[in-house]
Amino acid sequence: MIQDIRQDYKNHIEEAAEVIRSGGLVAFPTETVYGLGANALDDVAVRGIFAAKGRPGDNPLIVHVDGVTEAEEIAQMTDEARKLADAFWPGPITLVLKSRGGMQAVSAGLDTVAVRMPDNDAALSLISAAGVPIAAPSANKSGSPSPTTAAHVLSDFGEELMILDAGACEVGVESTVVDMTADVPSILRPGAITQEMIEEVIGEIACAPSFTPSDVEKPMSPGMKYRHYAPRAKMTVVEGDHVSVAEAIKYLYDKDIKGGEIPLAMISREHKKYYGRREVMVTGSYYSPAEAAERLYALLREADDGDYGSIYFEALPREGIGFAVMNRVYKASAYNIVRV
Ligand code: TXA
Ligand code: MG
Repeated sequence: MIQDIRQDYKNHIEEAAEVIRSGGLVAFPTETVYGLGANALDDVAVRGIFAAKGRPGDNPLIVHVDGVTEAEEIAQMTDEARKLADAFWPGPITLVLKSRGGMQAVSAGLDTVAVRMPDNDAALSLISAAGVPIAAPSANKSGSPSPTTAAHVLSDFGEELMILDAGACEVGVESTVVDMTADVPSILRPGAITQEMIEEVIGEIACAPSFTPSDVEKPMSPGMKYRHYAPRAKMTVVEGDHVSVAEAIKYLYDKDIKGGEIPLAMISREHKKYYGRREVMVTGSYYSPAEAAERLYALLREADDGDYGSIYFEALPREGIGFAVMNRVYKASAYNIVRV
């Protein structure tokens, strides 16, 4: 059931903390997406997360903590890790570190653990009140887009699950995951904290392959081997200068209409004017990738609820968080990309 914690905050947090302490699951907001949480130190509870999501047991979870000291208790923070935590926590960056052991289920048997301190009052209050680190993947069933509202979580898991509702997530795409265990740290998943931002703090790092279409032939990084969300409609990303992109999308759209299909264009606000009466969803401003990040998963869910046979997505600039947005969009389209 959804509990609106904007009312009666303290009681809702206390109640949820009690559920966590007693081995249950609670969905809670973070600044990125909603998480499905359990006591990270309780293997049985953590296995409950894998079961509820239908997640493969060899795909490890992120542990959420309420401070650097708490992170140190479960992971070995290197100097560089501490610098990143100082610079970006609380915030949307997850550090993969050597584990201090004892969290088999969370780490999926690896000797490393992924840790982050979320930038969300409800999340931090819940962790503090529970008094334990909270393991939490995104609160969606494997195969759906990550949830950015409590209603998304409800639609995947139903009324049985306790869902703390604090409104829509501000960032909208999952945290940046950085592997700090190699000699040269590397980004395993792009997010709001970009490579440039990280390099300003600790110097040069690596970016795992397979984030961009030109890289997909290269070997996949560990977290990328799992099946990802794909919309029911055939999704095509169209890339190029914006006038040619609009021409191409309109051509493909009109061809689908003639073929008796229902197409949908996902496009930026500035370029909506090109599409006339065609059916469109606006991803946000072409010049503000943060807006697209915030809306992307909700739009994909909305599109899945329609009868669309095809979705044409106007590629956005891969700048700032736009890199993470396009990484998710490429994956959703199974790298089905038209360049014009
Ligand atoms: O923003 C987020 O990170 C959200 C919120 C809820 O915090 N969580 C999230 O969790 O996206 P999840 O489970 O959907 O994604 C975790 C990612 C996966 O790609 C997983 O493979 C990777 O982190 N990961 C976790 N532990 C790891 C480890 N020890 N080594 C390498 N990758 C790891
Ligand atoms: Mg996920």
